[in-house]
Amino acid sequence: MPKPRILVTRRVPQECLDALKPHFEIEHFNKEVAIPRKLLLRKVADKDGLLCLLTDKIDDELLDAGPKLKAVSTFSVGYDHVDVPACARRGVAVTNTPGVLTESTADFTWTLLMAAARRVVEGDAYMRGGKYKGWDPLMILGVDVAGKTLGVVGFGRIGQAVAKRAGGFSMKVLYFDTRRASPEAERALNAEFVPLERLLRESDFVSLHTVLDDSTRHLLDDAAFGKMKKSAVLVNAARGPIVDEAALVRALKTGKIRAAGLDVYEREPKMAAGLASCRNAVLAPHLASASLETRTKMGLMSAQGLVDGLIRKIRSPYAVTP
Ligand code: DGY
Repeated sequence: MPKPRILVTRRVPQECLDALKPHFEIEHFNKEVAIPRKLLLRKVADKDGLLCLLTDKIDDELLDAGPKLKAVSTFSVGYDHVDVPACARRGVAVTNTPGVLTESTADFTWTLLMAAARRVVEGDAYMRGGKYKGWDPLMILGVDVAGKTLGVVGFGRIGQAVAKRAGGFSMKVLYFDTRRASPEAERALNAEFVPLERLLRESDFVSLHTVLDDSTRHLLDDAAFGKMKKSAVLVNAARGPIVDEAALVRALKTGKIRAAGLDVYEREPKMAAGLASCRNAVLAPHLASASLETRTKMGLMSAQGLVDGLIRKIRSPYAVTP
């Protein structure tokens, strides 16, 4: 029996390829850049499965181009780039990598939060620029984190892991989500369910962890920044389009909010005009899950998604439902 044919759309950890090799005939776009759309549409034509990334749009056009596809596994927990209902209509199973990146993403959220609060990147540039002339009581002053209020928007796995870490800083935790967490979770995390409006008004740090869909696109816009404290710090390690990036630039430049720590952007890999010159923004290139251990686990899990769908022919425990 010939092995099912799959396409892997970018360079991935070797462990992922090793897990795929025994089962599949693999075509690999083994590059540091996203596969060009036209090439993707061409390559998918004779494939049974696709191991894709968040940089590949899986929509009706792609599914038309790949009529043999039976499984799509995304090397990411987020799947806003996959039209899951369209896949379901055609019987294409979709899997993602839930759970394995929760802790590293929560760690990195805190990295951004602390870096923005305490102006670490500005301090680093100051040192490297040879500007440091000795200790100064008023030099590069940030704001304290301990004892402040953290507002978590989106209280799923990652939002809760971020909230858990706030306990170590004796913070008050407010959260907003479309669904309220269980009383046990609220108690364990010492978190209070509040309307978004109140969260924005009362939080010193606002951290975004919601999915991206039509209801969350531009959730933070000019009006939302207007509600936040002037001293507030925004952290986004979820999805760029949750924030109206042009509005964020205005908010950072006019002092509507104090600072931001960003890992994601509205039109990745591009940034909104003016963002790069905001010294009060800490900017990372979508690194939240980028630890060696986590990316290896994501690779193994995304490989397993294809094995489940194409070899074992079972509903994968990592299946995404419309
Ligand atoms: C995801 O998995 O959705 C992240 O954005 C990248 O790890």
